[in-house]
Amino acid sequence: MDLKGRNFLTLLDYSKEELEYLLDTGLKMKKGELKKKLTNKSLAMLFQKSSTRTRMSFEAGMTRLGGAGMFLDIKNTQLGRGETLGDTGRTMSRYVEGIMARLNNHKDIEGIAEGATVPVINALTDMYHPCQTMADMLTVLEKKGNIEGLKVVYIGDCGFNMFHSTMIGFSKLGANVIGLCPDKEEYKPKGEVLEKAKAQATGSVTISHSPGEAMKDADVVYTDVWVSMGQDAEKEQRLADFSGFQVNGELMGKAKPDAIFMHCLPAHRGEEVSAEVIDGPQSVVFDEAENRLWAQNAILVELIGEA
Ligand code: CP
Ligand code: NVA
Repeated sequence: MDLKGRNFLTLLDYSKEELEYLLDTGLKMKKGELKKKLTNKSLAMLFQKSSTRTRMSFEAGMTRLGGAGMFLDIKNTQLGRGETLGDTGRTMSRYVEGIMARLNNHKDIEGIAEGATVPVINALTDMYHPCQTMADMLTVLEKKGNIEGLKVVYIGDCGFNMFHSTMIGFSKLGANVIGLCPDKEEYKPKGEVLEKAKAQATGSVTISHSPGEAMKDADVVYTDVWVSMGQDAEKEQRLADFSGFQVNGELMGKAKPDAIFMHCLPAHRGEEVSAEVIDGPQSVVFDEAENRLWAQNAILVELIGEA
């Protein structure tokens, strides 16, 4: 399968077969069955928001592959002084073989991609976090052996990046995804994204507002922070709105006994998840964090590696 030169902005742009191929590549690289290199290749890593995992996994990944990651804080680039997104993408493409970016607005990463002549990888925008979902799907394949037919329950803010990507990726690969959120428009998935995800699903997508019912027989229980980066002004309101949506022992007890607990991290113990769950035996959150590296290395070698 040839994915050379492609952008990786949203999982909507990739077919089920292409995603499965990338996951298989990542799993084989993790097991040491497949060795691929990006010798002397560079990846620009442009950040407008904070990061621990994304920055480290991309930078370490490029090093392990024989190339290098180049960290750029947007404040210290000319973007902060009015250079256009298109000119930035175009200029960067003269120095590096790939660009990854973590930006507030999804439109902005599209702007960089319009100017760029090398692949642009989305490292989180308001709308999507596709690299995280690739790591999550890789983790589920390791833990459960398959994705098709699983019941994946995502609890929390379904109107933002993490649910959008979870819904698109897992349902495309055959899972039945339930988004469990308070009954307020801002916490429901964006209509256009929901429609596209449903149209591409080989499993299903359902939105629910009743935790007890949705959790029944869940195989995978997923949550994310209630207050995402950039939403601090809404903190008080959000904490109140999500107060019945904490993943704790009682809620986990409604899932299947062998259900796994997932979280993209960073986590806030005592808010979206209790310490007993995230630090308990069903939690796979640190394997998930490690798998960022393996999922992304597969994306990097397939998109910017030699043909
Ligand atoms: N999950 C994730 O993207 O983590 P960081 O914000 O630390 O990169
Ligand atoms: N929804 C979170 C994800 C962090 C990895 C945020 O955007 O802050």
